[in-house]
Amino acid sequence: MKFSTIVAAVFTAVACVDCRVTPETNNQVLLQFDTGLKDYIVDDKYSLLQLHKSLVDISSVSFNETEVAKYLEQYLTDAGLTVELQLVEEPAYNLKNKRYNVYAYLGDRRDTKVVMTSHIDTVPPFFPYRVEGSKIYGRGTNDAKGSVATQVITFLDLVSKKMINEGDVSLLFVVGEEVNGGGMKYASDHLNANWSIGIFGEPTELKLGVGHKGIYIFELFAEGKAAHSGYPQLGVSATEFLVPLLNDILQLQLPHSTLLGPSTINIGRIEAGVAANVIPAKGFAQVSIRVATDYDKVVESVKELVKDRQHITFKEYQGVRPQYLDYKVPGFDSIILAYSTDVPNLTLPLSHRFLYGPGSIFVAHGDHEYVENQDLLDAIDGYTRLIDHALHLD
Ligand SMILES: *[C@@H]1O[C@H](CO)[C@@H](O)[C@H](O)[C@H]1NC(C)=O
Ligand SMILES: *[C@@H]1O[C@H](CO)[C@@H](O)[C@H](O)[C@H]1NC(C)=O
Ligand SMILES: *[C@@H]1O[C@H](CO)[C@@H](O)[C@H](O)[C@H]1NC(C)=O
Repeated sequence: MKFSTIVAAVFTAVACVDCRVTPETNNQVLLQFDTGLKDYIVDDKYSLLQLHKSLVDISSVSFNETEVAKYLEQYLTDAGLTVELQLVEEPAYNLKNKRYNVYAYLGDRRDTKVVMTSHIDTVPPFFPYRVEGSKIYGRGTNDAKGSVATQVITFLDLVSKKMINEGDVSLLFVVGEEVNGGGMKYASDHLNANWSIGIFGEPTELKLGVGHKGIYIFELFAEGKAAHSGYPQLGVSATEFLVPLLNDILQLQLPHSTLLGPSTINIGRIEAGVAANVIPAKGFAQVSIRVATDYDKVVESVKELVKDRQHITFKEYQGVRPQYLDYKVPGFDSIILAYSTDVPNLTLPLSHRFLYGPGSIFVAHGDHEYVENQDLLDAIDGYTRLIDHALHLD
């Protein structure tokens, strides 16, 4: 499908006392709350700011996303989309409440060329929506309800302008991104829908994510024998085996990626011994490597280093390969990211994957999480151009 006119969100600030709406061209209007924020409204009904505020004001810390999913189901159904709530079952967590992914599309075609997706859970703690100047504060305003709201409004805008048809684009909003990627994995495995291109919404400062580093986490357990430190020959010091090994690990030559930069290492936890005058019987360390490239080689070199070490047990804890995304799209800047996303949990074989959204990751999980009003407006323009680009890809 071709559409040449890109919605240019051009707004002018109008002084406003108790007004609501100032009509602009087509279905773009300027809404001035008493906050002075600028809005984007589709069909006189679907207000970006109202949707964003409603989503933020529903607390949805990971594992407690029921209400926000039901809100979105109702909203998207009222907007004329076909909506499915997908019950996400993760028996291992033994949760009492029901958690749902939300899948929405036009008409009957469940398989679409493009899936536009983000997550509806947030990190804790919840704090409500409030506006200061042009900044909108609140948990999830940025990560990722800014993406969810702008994706929904973009979708409705394109439907209203008849720029997308059945089978072109769907919306998928998942639970659990901030904890284990369980929602996206569940959708991949059980939704039974097929897509060839993914647009993932996360705070990327309105740039296209180049990719993100992988992570390799492992643990080292040192086993010795306790004794009085005055008689070291009677014991075996766990730290004397652990510390040199950690030192060797710090000396590892790690690969550098021209795209994602250096791989980096962090010895994040060390525990050993009980007192200065006791030979330590036990030692423990947890190490993580942010892997920029050559994941298998990194794993191999760690294993090479720890193998055949006396008194040391090695255990792999977590492994995620680096993720490379599509970032060369005319009109977009790119950004290298150091955080993980749901991208690896969408395990269907997509031909293209884009990561894009409003807001900066630097404020995302903090107690001053916010998004700029203008970023939300610009994101609608960005998603519109990305969908246009994606629908023209093979
Ligand atoms: C779970 O979410 C609901 C709805 O947003 C909220 O009222 C409730 O306080 C949340 N519960 C917890 C434990 O966060
Ligand atoms: C999501 O992907 C990450 C990275 O590959 C993985 O560690 C995690 O286990 C996945 N989540 C699920 C529920 O499989
Ligand atoms: C999913 O879509 C891809 C790309 O359009 C296609 O090659 C593949 O056969 C589809 N798979 C299923 C199970 O429909």
